[in-house]
Amino acid sequence: MKLLHIDSSILGSHSKSRELTAAIVAKLKHVHPLIEIVYRDLAVTPPPHMTLASLPGDHPSSAFAGPLDDVAQRIRDQSQRMLDEFMAADIVVLGVPMYNWSIPSQLKAWIDIFSCAGQNLPVRAAGAGGRVGRQQARHCRHHARCVLRIPHGCDFC
Ligand SMILES: Cc1cc2nc3c(=O)[nH]c(=O)nc-3n(C[C@H](O)[C@H](O)[C@H](O)COP(=O)(O)O)c2cc1C
Repeated sequence: MKLLHIDSSILGSHSKSRELTAAIVAKLKHVHPLIEIVYRDLAVTPPPHMTLASLPGDHPSSAFAGPLDDVAQRIRDQSQRMLDEFMAADIVVLGVPMYNWSIPSQLKAWIDIFSCAGQNLPVRAAGAGGRVGRQQARHCRHHARCVLRIPHGCDFC
């Protein structure tokens, strides 16, 4: 079984969502010792913002970009790697902080990469508790649910 662990907080060691995702992943690892974990930190390696050239090669619209130079091809390859990681995962653990009443733009850019896939995948999300604690965690879950469940049909806990 493969688990994709995604963090998107910009707050590094001060991040609450990172604590939550780490705890969830550690618990899953304890329960399923053979689970293979792939980690991606979207704050350290932000996905490209969506352009035709940055769409992964598997995206139906990527061909509209025409021939790519080396730099653009490297960006496309990076998007394709992120899409492949996502498609290969049985479980995705997402750290979803609330910034400016939304999800981090890095996370939105990551979601844009696999928006073409339209697959049903199990997702457990860790909402961060900010100043308003539980209420904020609910807001975070609501945001992630809107982004993931409605267009992508993901299970959500
Ligand atoms: C740039 C920034 C914007 C934020 N915007 C909001 C907001 O709109 N609403 C809110 O309730 N909390 C907001 N917060 C508080 C964060 O949700 C809170 O710090 C939470 O712990 C962030 O998750 P993290 O610690 O994993 O980064 C914001 C924090 C930062 C750093």
